[in-house]
Amino acid sequence: MPDLPAAPPIEAGAANCLIVDDEPIVRRSLVRMLQAQGFTCFEAGTGREALRVLDQIGETSLVISDMRMPELDGIGLLEAVHQRYPDTSVIMLSGISETTTAVDCLHRGAADFLLKPISVSELHARVSRVLEKRALVLQNRCYQQTLERQVHAQAQRIQELFLQGVQMLARALEAKDAYTRGHSIRVSQYAVGTAQRLGFGGGSLDGIRLGGELHDIGKIGTREAVLHKPGTLTDDEFRQISEHPILGERMLLPLAQESPDVLRIVRSHHERLDGLGFPDGLRGEKIPIEARIVAVADTFDAMTTERPYRDSRTPEAAVTELRRVAGTQLDPDAVEAFVDAFPDPRELPLSA
Ligand SMILES: [Fe+2]
Repeated sequence: MPDLPAAPPIEAGAANCLIVDDEPIVRRSLVRMLQAQGFTCFEAGTGREALRVLDQIGETSLVISDMRMPELDGIGLLEAVHQRYPDTSVIMLSGISETTTAVDCLHRGAADFLLKPISVSELHARVSRVLEKRALVLQNRCYQQTLERQVHAQAQRIQELFLQGVQMLARALEAKDAYTRGHSIRVSQYAVGTAQRLGFGGGSLDGIRLGGELHDIGKIGTREAVLHKPGTLTDDEFRQISEHPILGERMLLPLAQESPDVLRIVRSHHERLDGLGFPDGLRGEKIPIEARIVAVADTFDAMTTERPYRDSRTPEAAVTELRRVAGTQLDPDAVEAFVDAFPDPRELPLSA
């Protein structure tokens, strides 16, 4: 069980109290009784004056108010206090014993209803009960907020640890293969630069950065012989490699709530605008924009790095190819944004 903060004090000595009554004798008598119990007391002769006093002193623990007063009566004051100072307890005071009035006051949020005249011992007992209840409500809220913060922090930590594990897996996958070393980091950098040109920022940029980094994580489940085969793939081998987006999405399911864009990238980075991609054969704008961006970055990096089955192209030749397939395979806007973001091939993060 985590450490929780101490409960707010219940004793009267820590409390302020505002006494509201249009009869000065009644008011003074209540003030004397409460001061004797350690309260710091403030006074007001009407509901309006009470609100002015509260404006000056800020929130008090307790308001004890007469029902019948000129200007603003007790019910009006009760409602105003509840609206402006929801943590202040209000005890209503009346010289007339009316059950309906008492019930009405309690329904409107009064903490208690007292009848005049009131003895010292009864006032002490009722005020103590009201303040104890108020302290418990505040304590409960404080516990709840602290627990919520701790649960949130732990959930974030769990996610961080999960991500670290997945990123380490991605590095391990690339470390085994000289051809793809650094591929995911470069794809991530290309995708972020492209996304910025397209107006992405903040959290959505973080999703693209991570999605770029993890887009091929599902290849962990593909046999190495297939992954690194120099020649043409058989239908069965192609089917095996085509499963990596779905497998990757499944691996990253713990991110589904916090980072759904990462999952969209991983699943859809091999879709094509003409619907001939995989795994879902999505067309055009049905393909999530984040995945279209990563597809451009992925295609460019694949062309500019050497693979077992072909030599690399120069950045200029790769850009020409990106433009050739824009509109059929790749999103033309994403291609142009990529070219805008990385106009000088010498500044490409090829060595990352
Ligand atoms: Fe891929």
